[in-house]
Amino acid sequence: MQRITVAIDGPSGSGKSSVSKEAARRLNAAYLDTGAMYRAVTWHALDAGTDLADAAAVTAAVKAAELFISTDPDVERITIHGTDVTEAIREPFVSAAVSAVATNLQARAELVARQRAIINEHERIVAEGRDITTVVAPDADARILLTASEEARLRRRGLQLGGTQSAAELEAQVLARDAKDSTVVNFQVAADGVVTVDSSELDFEQTVATVLEAIKAQAA
Ligand code: DC
Repeated sequence: MQRITVAIDGPSGSGKSSVSKEAARRLNAAYLDTGAMYRAVTWHALDAGTDLADAAAVTAAVKAAELFISTDPDVERITIHGTDVTEAIREPFVSAAVSAVATNLQARAELVARQRAIINEHERIVAEGRDITTVVAPDADARILLTASEEARLRRRGLQLGGTQSAAELEAQVLARDAKDSTVVNFQVAADGVVTVDSSELDFEQTVATVLEAIKAQAA
């Protein structure tokens, strides 16, 4: 089968992870959730009592991290130093702290290198995150920015968390995190050659179909 690397970026709540995972299944490709890697090292730094404001300590922790992430779209599993953190990394305390790692340029450089290595190990892979189209895999065969209006993103994020948080809380959290992360990576505007798919008015199936079409058109 032909080699293919697909890069997908987008903000929180754009549907990036579920859409990328389904696109990977349909392309018979591996799947890499780079956000999970940022989350796992954040979980570990918190667990180890590392001061997240201490950039050098965070960088050292990231460099030393023994990180394993499943690239099977049907097996969600990530471990750090042998501890399975697949579920723990989705906890609100991790979401609230992860920007401290994501805005640390040395920590990013380390994770970007590991992400490139994982991508290179696979003949066919869909990798998603915030800087895949621009930094991690700018030479990917297909590059997509998956966007959605603020309203649609907050609605989806609310559903994902089980509807337990107030709209105001959600808005503050999601928008504040994206604003912080945007200071080091641009995932709001498509870079040259990156195709934008706006999912605001599309359901899941329509979004997957549109993304697959965009991949086909670029990788042809
Ligand atoms: O997609 P997510 O919410 O799981 O991402 C978690 C955090 O990691 C988020 O704050 C953005 C950051 N991130 C990043 O800076 N670069 C990536 N390639 C992926 C995620």
